[in-house]
Amino acid sequence: MRLVLVGPPGCGKGTLSAFIVSKYGIPHISTGDIFREHRTKKSELGQKIASYIDKGELVPDELVLDVVFDRLAQPDCAKGFIFDGFPRTIAQAEALQERLAKAGMPLDAVLSFSVPDEVLVRRLVTRRVCPSCNAVYNTEKKPPQVENTCDHCQHELVHRADDHEEVIQSRLDVYRRSTAPLLDYYQGQKLLVNLDGSRGSHEVEKQFEHFVAERGL
Ligand code: AP5
Ligand code: MG
Repeated sequence: MRLVLVGPPGCGKGTLSAFIVSKYGIPHISTGDIFREHRTKKSELGQKIASYIDKGELVPDELVLDVVFDRLAQPDCAKGFIFDGFPRTIAQAEALQERLAKAGMPLDAVLSFSVPDEVLVRRLVTRRVCPSCNAVYNTEKKPPQVENTCDHCQHELVHRADDHEEVIQSRLDVYRRSTAPLLDYYQGQKLLVNLDGSRGSHEVEKQFEHFVAERGL
């Protein structure tokens, strides 16, 4: 199964990815998670990208593509992958298409999530994440068993620096300007599948399972 998940911040890409990983065991490639890990480690890349991710701006395409293509070359990607938050520009999508065509590994589908803006903002201000294993929680909809503590690795949870209202608004603007054009791009390639991301996460999982069954993936 080779999938791209595309949608605005807070639409549920990471949440559905965790379900797909647990059910189908394919690698989850989240460029956001990879960049935050580099930022925490203060690696050379981490220092270059910190100001972009904290302000909710896009990291330059060439830095993104290096990271993604390194990851794609790992042997576990031979069995499939889920891209979460990549591609985010038409240039990234074209570079990915070229790389996958050369490798003989075309995408099966691009899943797009529609969610009203006010729901996105609410989800993000109430989101908490584990900086160690990247598990995603929500103080209203999916609280951890022990307050502010990851159920999986017991690490303290954090409120992402870009999950404060002013930054969320600029992330939504960036999404509309740079990433939303991908929907037409993938529609033109007959790869786009629309999910109603405003439903509860169990409902979204059911929509995904229906899509998998329908496609025989
Ligand atoms: P990234 O980490 O990719 O952030 P994003 O795309 O803005 O997406 P989010 O992680 O905020 O949302 P999500 O859709 O994963 O929602 P989640 O499942 O957590 O990117 C961060 C930054 O990195 C970018 O701003 C940029 O700087 C840089 N970057 C990354 N990739 C890049 C690229 N390709 N090019 C350039 N720059 C790049 O859910 C959100 C909350 O809602 C959670 O609390 C969850 O519990 C809850 N929730 C989820 N689904 C449901 C549901 N169905 N019902 C109720 N609650 C739900
Ligand atoms: Mg995410």
